[in-house]
Amino acid sequence: MAQVIATTDDDDRLYPEVLAAMGSALGCTLGAAWEEDASGQALVCNDVWSAADSGSEAFAAVTRGLRFERGAGLPGRVWASGEPAWIVDLGDDANYPRASHAAAAGLVSAFCFPLRSANGVLGAIELYSPEPRIPDAELLATMASLGAQIGQFIVRRRAERSVRESEERKRAILESALDCVITIDHEGRVVELNQPAVVTFGYEPEDAVGRELAELIVPPSLRARHREGFARYLDSGAAVIIGSRIEITGMRADGSEFPVELTVTRINLPGPPMFTGYLRDITERRQAEAELRASRARVVAAADEERRRIERDLHDGAQQKLVHLNLLLGLARTRLARDPASGLALLDEAIAELAAATSELRELARGIHPAVLADGGLAPALSALAGLSLPRAQVVAVPTDRLSAAVEATAYFVVAEALTNMTRYAQASTATVAAVQGDGRLVVEVRDDGRGGADTSGGGLRGLADRAASLNGELEVRSRPGEGTSVKVLIPCA
Ligand SMILES: Nc1ncnc2c1ncn2[C@@H]1O[C@H](COP(=O)(O)OP(=O)(O)O)[C@@H](O)[C@H]1O
Ligand SMILES: [Mg+2]
Repeated sequence: MAQVIATTDDDDRLYPEVLAAMGSALGCTLGAAWEEDASGQALVCNDVWSAADSGSEAFAAVTRGLRFERGAGLPGRVWASGEPAWIVDLGDDANYPRASHAAAAGLVSAFCFPLRSANGVLGAIELYSPEPRIPDAELLATMASLGAQIGQFIVRRRAERSVRESEERKRAILESALDCVITIDHEGRVVELNQPAVVTFGYEPEDAVGRELAELIVPPSLRARHREGFARYLDSGAAVIIGSRIEITGMRADGSEFPVELTVTRINLPGPPMFTGYLRDITERRQAEAELRASRARVVAAADEERRRIERDLHDGAQQKLVHLNLLLGLARTRLARDPASGLALLDEAIAELAAATSELRELARGIHPAVLADGGLAPALSALAGLSLPRAQVVAVPTDRLSAAVEATAYFVVAEALTNMTRYAQASTATVAAVQGDGRLVVEVRDDGRGGADTSGGGLRGLADRAASLNGELEVRSRPGEGTSVKVLIPCA
């Protein structure tokens, strides 16, 4: 028995061999092994052995399908008390539910002993004989010792299984991680890498494992520093990099370099140190940051340009007229006494000049923020723009509710720029403007059936995209040559 237990590694082989060996040694014809189930609430049958030609197949089949709670039946009794138990006459026991099946199989006596571990009883083994039997002291002692050995085997087997399961779980977590996870040993050699690392860096595990990490993913210009830092850490245990988040440059198998965010932890196990690095490719984040900076710079530049235009317009327009007006009024004053007719003519000229300056200022103000938009909202403002375009655009939809000033202004400037472009470049025969509010956003589209081919890389359309982006919106331009142009802006609005 001891040999069976010592040499069996395979779970599935243990009970059949133990039951067969004990059964034949003790003149029993059937044996059953019971173990606590996962809930700890019942014993379930793990294995049944029966001697050849014993005629107990039906009993074995019934036994296999049973579960016993603590205290119930023969195994449940042993599980509850932790002590061996026996039934000399199976037909005459109040707590033995299988009596009729046992009688049909010709089984008369049964003996059961606990499987023990340091944590208590884990299960039980039953043995059946076709003759009446009463166990002696020697048999009881032998069974107690066997029960302890089998119990230890079960505990070891469960521990091994839980380690295997935990490794499987760890593997699943590593493989489904978004970050690259690479483990290295105390010589800086790769021990393990997950699938994202394979994809990001372009090395298959068999090409990477065992090679120095520095050689694989650190650009040549940085390798010396990496090796120095690593050696210094191993010598002194001091490192800035352990546990903090840093941004460095990584290298792929094809030699291309890219920005990486990295954290490193030291694995706390006995023996030479090992390290795990979590790496994330931050190329896209860097691009998005650069794009944001560029767009901010363009918004600032556009605002500066706009201020210069206003200054020019004021200088060349209204300001000139007001200077001239000043001259006219001065002249009129000196003339009026001497030559009233010519003085009055000068005053008429001054009045006309004043009217021109006023209208110029009004125009200018409208360009800065159209009064019609502030007063009446998008409906009249878009109609006014449509009325100025060539060909005249149809406004097919417009929201009835007022929206926030920033949203209305962006919609207005998109339509203004798109219709100005259409008039200037499209050679269109029809054009439409549609503004629809719904699903938490305003969608405004200007379409024409002209020559298409709009260029969004600079100038007016680029400025519209920036303006939309500043409200978390988007500009979409579709303008294939020969297929007309659609300029559409989507702006979030509550
Ligand atoms: N509706 C359109 N139909 C055809 N070409 C267009 C249209 N809109 C724009 N374009 C073309 O795209 C270019 C870029 O337009 P835009 O960004 O508004 O800059 P700008 O108007 O200052 O030239 C225009 O110069 C023109 O060639
Ligand atoms: Mg333009």
